[in-house]
Amino acid sequence: MSSVSRNKVVIVGTGQVGATAAFSIVTHGLCNELVLIDHIGAKALGEARDLDDGSEFQDRHVRVRVGDYDDCADADIVVITVGRKPPADSNRLAELGFTVGLVGDVVDRVMASGFDGVIIMVSNPVDVMAWYAWKRSGLPRTQVIGTGTALDTSRLKTIIGEETGLDPRNVGGFVMGEHGDSQFAAWSTVSLGGKPFDRFLADNRDRFASVSPAEVEAKTRRRGDDIVKAKGGTNYGIASTVAGIVQTILWDERRIVPVSTLLDGEYGEHDVFLGVPTELRANGANEIVELDLTDEEMARLHRSADLVRSHCEGLL
Ligand code: LAC
Repeated sequence: MSSVSRNKVVIVGTGQVGATAAFSIVTHGLCNELVLIDHIGAKALGEARDLDDGSEFQDRHVRVRVGDYDDCADADIVVITVGRKPPADSNRLAELGFTVGLVGDVVDRVMASGFDGVIIMVSNPVDVMAWYAWKRSGLPRTQVIGTGTALDTSRLKTIIGEETGLDPRNVGGFVMGEHGDSQFAAWSTVSLGGKPFDRFLADNRDRFASVSPAEVEAKTRRRGDDIVKAKGGTNYGIASTVAGIVQTILWDERRIVPVSTLLDGEYGEHDVFLGVPTELRANGANEIVELDLTDEEMARLHRSADLVRSHCEGLL
């Protein structure tokens, strides 16, 4: 990747998720230039104009415009959000048949531009789609990531915050594995105020008697579906996640985020993308953190890996 940062982000797909991610990027002033691409050109144009119209009241002016795939040539990051609104009572893996053709076409067009930045995959099933984009693009593993379990980790923290009345940012730790039903809370990594979560609950039993880790985990897993049932899709949580990942890469922040990244020996897995804590730098997924998971957590990670890999078979 070029060492000269041009600070340019392209978002492909301006549905609810892409448009809200664009809004979050603009309100945080994360880049100089934001380009929107959609197969419905008028939609991308409308979103770009609407976003730019608030410029007077933003902290920093991000130039937002509609573009085409040639714009990817010198982009630092391309965010791929193509797909459809998830049907109710579906699961993310069931979107594969619908999404794979769209993602393949987008990746080919992005690469035809000469793109050499970082792809952030958002389209579901995100772990399968990130693997597919990595294979199809020929980019190094550092340069293709999925949003992974970054959103699920944020949801876990949010739900712990709801149940304890404490700020979710007091919570440390990770949800790992598939961004889907086989995800798991790696409880051995979860802490509150610097204490292991179970110890925190035990030491404050009078205040937190009603908080059940199993219930917190189940709510975290169901959260996306619950929101889809309530409002037809999710956008703010995933958009904030995308903006956070964009920020840490563009600004070379070196945050450790559980994005979906290629496992190549880490955690004893190969040739599969899963949500694992990953140090993000300007070059993308720089280093995977190998946590000391319990045997049960490792078994759950392998189950996620097998499930995701089985859905990758035959895609190429
Ligand atoms: C969600 C979608 C992004 O979990 O999968 O909100």
